[in-house]
Amino acid sequence: MRKKLLLGNWKMNKLASEAKEFAIASKPLVALAKSNKIELGVAPTYMSLATVRKYSAKAMIVAAQNVHFEEKGAFTGEVSIPMLKEFKINWVILGHSERRTYDNETSEKCNAKMKALIANDMIPVYCCGETLAQFEAGETKAVVKEQIEKGFEGISEEQAKKCVVAYEPIWSIGTGKNASTEIAQDVCKYIRKVLKGVVGKAASKIRILYGGSVKPENIKAYLSCPDVDGALVGGASLKIDSYEGLLKNIL
Ligand code: 13P
Repeated sequence: MRKKLLLGNWKMNKLASEAKEFAIASKPLVALAKSNKIELGVAPTYMSLATVRKYSAKAMIVAAQNVHFEEKGAFTGEVSIPMLKEFKINWVILGHSERRTYDNETSEKCNAKMKALIANDMIPVYCCGETLAQFEAGETKAVVKEQIEKGFEGISEEQAKKCVVAYEPIWSIGTGKNASTEIAQDVCKYIRKVLKGVVGKAASKIRILYGGSVKPENIKAYLSCPDVDGALVGGASLKIDSYEGLLKNIL
């Protein structure tokens, strides 16, 4: 049985002071989620990770939005896995489309990061998804297949179990044009099939999230799909009321 997961991706939003306020306010929500066997999390900027970890409930998942695969060295502007671990940050989003578009993040690079995270007993949330042009050209499945195969290359069945995948069609991110539940289910089911080819039986354990214009009003429909195990939410995860709405609508 895959536990439902609701993860907020704050992107480049919130000062540490604002993140602290949210973390404190989220405490009762984490307790509510826990008693309903749902996992809750947020991915703040690097600058707010320690603050959110400190002020939120223990069961709150606090994820970084990126990491470097090397432990240390001459990589100006980067943050390493030991630096995250020092602050008890054990989850990392990898390969978000915004990083793929603006920061030259490739599936190969994500694969190195996946391996480094797994070696450190940390959990990657590996993102995949197609552009509008690829969607319109009917290339969605070919695109996610390549992203999944490259991202999970060389990862064993045992190692893959704890990994999380997020399917985020780029055309639905921040646009209000969310993918239909039929599309979300069809692609997430296909991703599970591709995962089976790469990591075998672990595919049935891996949680696959949908992301892209998820709101309190539509989250329930996505989480009712058999292959959608949760949501990766941008805009609607920023305000505590809306975050609460996301949770309450899937209880
Ligand atoms: P929105 O929920 O704002 O569309 O963002 C989705 C996303 O990119 C989450 O990672």
